[in-house]
Amino acid sequence: MGKMKVSCVLSWLCSCLALWSCSLTLRGCEIIDEDPGSTTAANLTTAAPTPTMAETTVTGSAQETTAPTTTTSATTTSTTTTTTGTTTTTKAPLGVCWGGQKYDGAAGECSEVELRGATRVISNTCAYVALKGGTGVCWGDKSCGADCPNIDFATEVYATELAFLALNTADGSGVCWGRDESTNYYGENCSGLDFTGITHVYSSATDFVAWNSNSGTGFCWGRNGGCTDQDFTGITQIYSSSNGFIALNRNAGTGFCLGKFAHRHYCSRYDFSATDLEVYAFDDGFVAGPAGGQYQSSTMDVGSLASGSLTGTTHTYSTDKAYLALNMNAGTGVCFGDASKGGDCSQIDFTGVTSVHATEGAFLAFKKASGTATCWGDIDCSSVDFTGVTDVYSTIRAFLALNRNSGTGVCFPTDASDDDCSQIDFTNVSHVLYTRTGFLGIKSDQPDRLSTAGYRDHFNPFVVPS
Ligand SMILES: *[C@@H]1O[C@H](CO)[C@@H](O)[C@H](O)[C@H]1NC(C)=O
Ligand SMILES: *[C@@H]1O[C@H](CO)[C@@H](O)[C@H](O)[C@H]1NC(C)=O
Ligand SMILES: *[C@@H]1O[C@H](CO)[C@@H](O)[C@H](O)[C@H]1NC(C)=O
Repeated sequence: MGKMKVSCVLSWLCSCLALWSCSLTLRGCEIIDEDPGSTTAANLTTAAPTPTMAETTVTGSAQETTAPTTTTSATTTSTTTTTTGTTTTTKAPLGVCWGGQKYDGAAGECSEVELRGATRVISNTCAYVALKGGTGVCWGDKSCGADCPNIDFATEVYATELAFLALNTADGSGVCWGRDESTNYYGENCSGLDFTGITHVYSSATDFVAWNSNSGTGFCWGRNGGCTDQDFTGITQIYSSSNGFIALNRNAGTGFCLGKFAHRHYCSRYDFSATDLEVYAFDDGFVAGPAGGQYQSSTMDVGSLASGSLTGTTHTYSTDKAYLALNMNAGTGVCFGDASKGGDCSQIDFTGVTSVHATEGAFLAFKKASGTATCWGDIDCSSVDFTGVTDVYSTIRAFLALNRNSGTGVCFPTDASDDDCSQIDFTNVSHVLYTRTGFLGIKSDQPDRLSTAGYRDHFNPFVVPS
């Protein structure tokens, strides 16, 4: 069985184009231009479509800025340009966002910004990075790294909760930024680290691990410091959770823990020597044990789990206090943890489930073929119609059921007014991303080339049964 990535998705918000910096003056969406000589502030509060505008030319230093004067029934887009003799052309907004206004700072307050040409967009809990043609731009809340450095030719960006790493595998350089480089509580300071040859990067909520699987070396940075005492020689697999990491040498039957789990009392429960070792990762940590045997966990109560009951698991999912191990092949699921937060799924029929999504207190099991879904935990979705829904997304508070074909979406629950998306136009939304409580729908101009990764995707559990 292969390594399966859990798809507990959170949500998103604002989209911006790489080549210009827009700043939502009133609502705080700030994007840093990759060109330090050009500072463009665009009031995108209600950016109106400006279909007649030409594409921004990226290659030259001369970018033409046209302040849209289109007056819509609502508000007028106003683009202001303050550049050193250059101008930038703004284009029709390619994003819609909602949610997050209360908790995600400026990341939750952007309205519509453009992401034309973006090929990769990554979020952490309250900021975004978009990569486009070897450059990157950021926006969101300053405490999450909205002020990002120029990212030249970054290969990929990784996220902890409040920081980013932009890795350039071509020259072995990496640059980190985020909440506070002097504390490095979230891995926002990686200065001096040499990323040459790094093949894998893992993150928890607060730490990064970089691994060179060819040379058998690796290093860590973030709240729990370096891991210079660990020898990565022979390591065959590394698994991440939001709390920490497990590195295994499956050939030798040994392993060690990193991040918060580096403390010996977390790791000492695990016996990595079993040849038929099963390791299941959840947001909070790991459940491990010999196939068919009793499971151990240093952070979750597995007392209720019958021996071997997780064998065959293909996906794992987590709310804040409950866990689901899904066997998508067999159409079965096992839940444990706080029953009020989704820890009891004994009544749920998992036959035909195509994906599961989680908020902090509820699971949603989606059956795409039949257009149905079931929720359990602290959210009830029995009144939601899933007919025609193509994709489901979640923040810690709310779900979005999107019908990509009809360009419609439903959000629930909407107890918090900012989770309501009934006014959002989902037409042409091709991707959805998220911060902690905010969603971003991207209307990509090149959807086949664009990929996204939410912050939980980087430290979301991996299931590696074999
Ligand atoms: C942005 O738009 C708002 C609402 O129309 C307006 O009040 C504000 O002055 C504008 N800000 C800038 C910088 O143009
Ligand atoms: C980042 O880490 C380096 C190396 O440990 C250190 O010298 C530097 O002072 C740190 N940066 C900040 C802003 O504290
Ligand atoms: C959706 O995309 C089509 C084709 O590109 C375009 O003609 C249309 O205006 C778009 N609609 C919206 C609401 O963005």
